[in-house]
Amino acid sequence: MDATLPTAPHTALDAHDVRRAYARWAGVYDIVFGGVSSFGRRRAVQAANALPGSDVLEVGVGTGLALPYYDADKRVTGIDLSADMLERARRRVRRERLAHVAALAEMDAEQTSFADDSFDIAVAMFVASVVPNPRRLLAELKRVVRPGGHILFVNHFLAEGGARLAVERAMASSSRLLGWHPDFALDALLPAEDRARATIRPVPPAGLFTLVHLPCE
Ligand SMILES: C[S@@+](CC[C@H](N)C(=O)[O-])C[C@H]1O[C@@H](n2cnc3c(N)ncnc32)[C@H](O)[C@@H]1O
Repeated sequence: MDATLPTAPHTALDAHDVRRAYARWAGVYDIVFGGVSSFGRRRAVQAANALPGSDVLEVGVGTGLALPYYDADKRVTGIDLSADMLERARRRVRRERLAHVAALAEMDAEQTSFADDSFDIAVAMFVASVVPNPRRLLAELKRVVRPGGHILFVNHFLAEGGARLAVERAMASSSRLLGWHPDFALDALLPAEDRARATIRPVPPAGLFTLVHLPCE
């Protein structure tokens, strides 16, 4: 990567900004974002389903778009900062009778109330570029996932060159309105030692999103 690229987004969103942005988005989220991001979401859940262990933590569960895709033998706990997004997830669980969803709770993914080593797998879909402090999110997921467990991220990361990089940098000033950071770089999330251990793959068809699989030590 170009050493002059910023590793952290220009405009930080705090918890208040996140709640406000997603109170606005909640009613239309599935229509506006559901389609475009569905490949990434399906890939991440497919990867979680293929992993050993049943206890899954989904952080930033949002309206619960991914919840129907987990295998029945997974036991999924979903958390989110936004009560408005969670309310939609709860409705989905009731409507679709998703018995594998163990709990949905309003909680900060950077500072959860779970004990150490509570989960086999943690999944964060399109969340890393939204939380105020992505490295704190990573540390918290490492704490609550047991050694030998797995952390999965799917996200859009800042392009490392070309026309997309210019567009994403131009969009960055709209972070507060969008509720995510178009200029979010992979190394704002993963330090070099984790990047070296992780499996990092573009998600087809367009490769706009990336799936990151980090085994826990
Ligand atoms: C772009 S949405 C993604 C929702 C869902 N994962 C999906 O794939 O559709 C980001 C979600 O992360 C939530 N979020 C942002 N910061 C958070 C935090 N610190 N803790 C928990 N949830 C957070 C937002 O409220 C929002 O629901």
